[in-house]
Amino acid sequence: MKFTLLIALAVTFLADPGLAFDKEGKSDLKWYLDCYWRQYLDGEIPSDAVQAGHDMLQRPTYIGQALVYTVAFNQTIYAEVPFNLNPFTETQFLGVGGPIAVQSHIKILCCASEKSVEWVRTTPERIFFDLANRKPVLGGQQLHLEEPIKHDLLIGRTLPSKEQIVGKILMNNADHVIFYYVNGSNTAMLRVSPYEVLVYKA
Ligand SMILES: *[C@@H]1O[C@H](CO)[C@@H](O)[C@H](O)[C@H]1NC(C)=O
Ligand SMILES: *[C@@H]1O[C@H](CO)[C@@H](O)[C@H](O)[C@H]1NC(C)=O
Repeated sequence: MKFTLLIALAVTFLADPGLAFDKEGKSDLKWYLDCYWRQYLDGEIPSDAVQAGHDMLQRPTYIGQALVYTVAFNQTIYAEVPFNLNPFTETQFLGVGGPIAVQSHIKILCCASEKSVEWVRTTPERIFFDLANRKPVLGGQQLHLEEPIKHDLLIGRTLPSKEQIVGKILMNNADHVIFYYVNGSNTAMLRVSPYEVLVYKA
């Protein structure tokens, strides 16, 4: 196994980086970089969960994901959405059209290593530039049932301050890459720029 990893590392440094991280994921490094969603049960935080930041009381927060089916903007939307998972609060909220409370069937993002991922500061105008040659972690997707539209969702968060809140980055088109988050019981979906996006470490 060690030998294989050495070869993989050598290939990474010698070859075109596109080869080591091809779209099919055919790479010996895949396990090393990989992140995955685990079931979030009874408020228990798996040891490999990715800490996303902290709340106002400096308590650690994580990245959740849940599946919702909702009507927003006169459309039926079926979505798998990343959200701010705070195990110290009873209700978790994700945003599609507006805040939606989720209680069960929640997943939590975990990675093989703490060093697998990092946050990159960006803006809607600069995101394609800032993510060139980077691999963002896929946070989920939104499907519109009336129209064959599918948007990939990336994982974003507000900049470090008294609290950091995770939300979704919705890519409508190149000029419209918005970070939306939900703040507790606030009834609106909020947006902010600059923000941070979660990527695999280069
Ligand atoms: C939803 O549909 C209703 C009735 O067709 C229309 O009046 C309203 O403007 C639509 N709302 C949006 C957000 O498109
Ligand atoms: C979240 O809401 C609280 C008040 O409820 C406010 O103090 C805080 O600044 C808000 N945070 C963000 C990032 O919007």
